[in-house]
Amino acid sequence: MADNLMDKIVSLCKRRGFVFQSSEIYGGLANTWDYGPYGVELKNNVKRAWWKSVVYERDDIFGTDAAILMHPKVWEASGHVKSFFDLKSDCKSCKKRFKAADLKDKKKCPECGGELTEARPFNLLFKTHQGPVEEGSLIYLRPETAQGMFANFLNILDSKHPKLPFGLAQIGKAFRNEITAGNFTFRTREFEQMEIEYFVEPSRADKTLEEWIEYRFNWYINLGIKKENLRKRPHTKDELAHYAKACTDIEYKFPFGWSELEGIANRTDFDLRQHAESSGKELKYFDDAKKEKFYPYIIEPSGGVDRSVLAFLVDAYYEEKVKDDLRVVLKLHKDLSPVKVAVLPLLRNRAEIVELAKRIAQDLKKYFITVYDDTGAIGKLYRRQDEVGTLYCVTVDVKSLEDKQVTVRDRDTMLQERVNIDRLREHLEDKLK
Ligand code: GAP
Repeated sequence: MADNLMDKIVSLCKRRGFVFQSSEIYGGLANTWDYGPYGVELKNNVKRAWWKSVVYERDDIFGTDAAILMHPKVWEASGHVKSFFDLKSDCKSCKKRFKAADLKDKKKCPECGGELTEARPFNLLFKTHQGPVEEGSLIYLRPETAQGMFANFLNILDSKHPKLPFGLAQIGKAFRNEITAGNFTFRTREFEQMEIEYFVEPSRADKTLEEWIEYRFNWYINLGIKKENLRKRPHTKDELAHYAKACTDIEYKFPFGWSELEGIANRTDFDLRQHAESSGKELKYFDDAKKEKFYPYIIEPSGGVDRSVLAFLVDAYYEEKVKDDLRVVLKLHKDLSPVKVAVLPLLRNRAEIVELAKRIAQDLKKYFITVYDDTGAIGKLYRRQDEVGTLYCVTVDVKSLEDKQVTVRDRDTMLQERVNIDRLREHLEDKLK
């Protein structure tokens, strides 16, 4: 059933235009995905909801957008060149490569039973070259957005003059040459992160870590994720990243098992110290009241955009029996639904009905993400809107021409009410508040 659910999600994503296989016309590029018309809306809504919650609704966090390409010394100082490794093992027969941790002490190749090589370290950094000459031009695609924020620490101090505690937030692409990717968009080599670097006095770090774990956990719940599908999992000492003193993952119960959505880590002063030493710049904070300089600690809530999108999709997926039909519906939170309103003419061969429906849709487009659709019978149109999670369907029928009313159908309850056309915008605004 669980795998079956993943298959259904993947199939709905393709069928309705959420997610497509990248380069599909060439046979696809393994584990690389493109977001289609509804997918990009959903993804943007997730990012917007995150930005609103961590930047707009607080006064202690500033947004940033650092470049993907950075000076290669950044990745030496951060420890990624030396320590960003996974152990890999190759099959001597079929040549498949495996992440040692996934083999769980298996001695033979899980695919063909062949002999495996000793586990060897494999660096996950993507390498490329900058400029027309390859020699001496090695740079990396960033494996996390975090370092762009550490590298801008001084710029923020000098331009915003913030007082501790304060943070930086960034959303952007990251790249890791994962040994094994998979589970649809869950683990890919190119993905997007939503990260906060929150600078605090070292003595407050433990408490701040706990506060952020709660804050971020509640963000998912407030956007509709069911409580029973979300949990916090503190890392054991041996799983901690090279920079972290403590970390708790927020995990979602995906059809393929409990898996990480976001990690909230205490990175201590590791990064600022490393960059200070490597760049020769002083990256300390000056406390005006105490007249002392020190390295703040960093609490880092770091989530994946693609993983969140996948979790929201899985959590919102429902199959319901309606009379003799199976209704597939995405009950996405109203802030996340790609489309808020669909305007549908009941009879597409009646010019006056079509004209009125188009006029209503055009008017609503100024206020809500609205689509107009007349490419099928009404039952089919409802089904299509349910599958993409459209919140309200406005139907224009013969009676609308006389009584100037339309039917508004609620996605979740399927209840329908008649609403005056000249009150429609207000009516929908109230519902979507
Ligand atoms: N700056 C800290 C950091 O990057 P991480 O736990 O390695 O920490 C943070 O990554 C988040 O980025 C993860 O919780 C996950 O949501 C997302 N992520 C990491 N690797 C990913 C991958 N290969 N594919 C998709 N998302 C990934």
